Amino acid sequence: MLYKIRLATENDAQVVHDIYGAYVPLDYVTFTVDNPNVESYRQKIVDTLEKYPFLLAENEDGKVLGYVYGSALRPHDAYQWNVEWTIVLAPDAPKRQGIASALYKEFVRILAKQGYRYIYGVLVDTNEASIGFHKSLGFLEVGHFENAGYKLGKWRGIRWMVKQIGSLEGELHKPLKLSEVIDDQGDEPY
Ligand SMILES: CC(C)(COP(=O)(O)OP(=O)(O)OC[C@H]1O[C@@H](n2cnc3c(N)ncnc32)[C@H](O)[C@@H]1OP(=O)(O)O)[C@@H](O)C(=O)NCCC(=O)NCCS
Repeated sequence: MLYKIRLATENDAQVVHDIYGAYVPLDYVTFTVDNPNVESYRQKIVDTLEKYPFLLAENEDGKVLGYVYGSALRPHDAYQWNVEWTIVLAPDAPKRQGIASALYKEFVRILAKQGYRYIYGVLVDTNEASIGFHKSLGFLEVGHFENAGYKLGKWRGIRWMVKQIGSLEGELHKPLKLSEVIDDQGDEPY
């Protein structure tokens, strides 16, 4: 299948809302119980693009197949070289065709250019597809927190998985803003 990967814009808020919303009623993908409104997704896209890539995979007809974005692992300054990621394909997007892996590859390429060192996935512990996907990318499980959340009448656990994406050696600088490595057309003149 032909598709391209591009930066999200705030105009993608509706489709991002709808794709995530399809998983909110399920018990194995997310601990979100009520899907936030479209405006909050618009704000999330705008805020994310300050510091992290927010990328979409889109087919030839312009249909969004899935997306990936980064967020802060923890709010304190010393954590700033870490990224927590979220990656989701649309329910009707083809699976096991490498789309999520392609999103990951481009996402990490940009993060590394910005100077981030580690990427973390926080998965519901029964999400076999996501666990298999993270393992295939070389993530290691570093924590299993049982009964971390309560959803749909049951206590449920999460797994933390991590992968190093940048060297700890050499000169340390704060991670660059996204606009310092890529412009809003997705070009990289810098
Ligand atoms: C998890 C998800 C992102 C994987 O997307 P995808 O495009 O199908 O993944 P890829 O084709 O890039 O898969 C790469 C590798 O990951 C592993 N993998 C992917 N899906 C898997 C599954 N259902 N079971 C086991 N391993 C799986 C495989 O090793 C696969 O390689 P292979 O197909 O050659 O065996 C997708 O299934 C999805 O969006 N699921 C619903 C939302 C979700 O769970 N998101 C993650 C929240 S943490």
